[in-house]
Amino acid sequence: MQQFLKHFAPAAAAVAFSFAAFTGAASAQQEIKLGYALATTSHYGVAATKWQEVVEAETDGRFVFRHFPSSGLGGEREVIEGLQIGTVEATIVSSGTLSNFVPETGVFDIPFLFRDLSHARTVLDGPIGQDILAKFESAGLVALAWGEQGFRHITNNRNAIAAPADVAGLKLRTMENPIHITAFQTLGAAPTPMAWPEVIGALEQGTIDGQENPLSVITSAKLSEVQKYLTVSGHVYSPAMLLVAPDFWNGLSDEDKEVFKKGAAEAVVAMRGFVDNAESSGVEQLKAAGMDVGELSSEQKAAFQEALAPAYEQYYNTYGKDLIDQIIATE
Ligand code: PAF
Repeated sequence: MQQFLKHFAPAAAAVAFSFAAFTGAASAQQEIKLGYALATTSHYGVAATKWQEVVEAETDGRFVFRHFPSSGLGGEREVIEGLQIGTVEATIVSSGTLSNFVPETGVFDIPFLFRDLSHARTVLDGPIGQDILAKFESAGLVALAWGEQGFRHITNNRNAIAAPADVAGLKLRTMENPIHITAFQTLGAAPTPMAWPEVIGALEQGTIDGQENPLSVITSAKLSEVQKYLTVSGHVYSPAMLLVAPDFWNGLSDEDKEVFKKGAAEAVVAMRGFVDNAESSGVEQLKAAGMDVGELSSEQKAAFQEALAPAYEQYYNTYGKDLIDQIIATE
């Protein structure tokens, strides 16, 4: 017994102490459950960590972030619904299902709308993007900032893609996003909307031929392990958003709200830095991982744009040609 006490009593005391410390601290600390679809090493993980660092440092640890990476709280739609009912405090999500909550968001999902990252960032950070963030309140959500993933490209296991005819009948997983679905239907593909947690399994089993995502996702989710062809199509910009739950937000002091906003702004800078890096080094990385990579020339992209003309008619009806032209004309 004495031997037992010698070896285990200090450990038991340490456990008891940390339990007391934990329960003591728990009354003073608020846990922030932060869910996101990708690994901690992805652009979402980098942004989440920066957000946490700023908030935890500037509130003397009164808030403690708990990360749920890799869809640990479910698909993006489920996590957003969790914010609405107050079971999750915060998330970083793509625009995948956002237009199902705030339809105006879908304008940014229109293919070939933005020239480059700088154009997209200017629009999202300017009045058009900020007006759309403000609309989230009426959907029972608080949108703090636009982040991003980069430009989306197509990967698949069937064939290389150089022209619209090459996507004919291609079983291509899309996000649950009506704007993207319309685009791929118009191109003659067979778009299959699917929540992200099911995608890798479906690619492995061959129930879909391919998917489309930015280099930031293709590299961090190691899609080269399950996909042969990468077509650098840049067919659409992929925004992301930092959202918090209204119940949680309304309980914060004005001072704490400012800290969360500041953390979100710094998280966006970190996320954009990651995306810049993925855009410049991702293709080489994926070639080295064995992918067969083809990049659409500007003439080939123009052929895709031309094939999308009927879809643009629908986008003009939904979002208004004036708004779309205003976005395109933004310098
Ligand atoms: O394709 C998607 O669903 C999204 O881009 C992803 C990978 C979940 C990141 O938000």
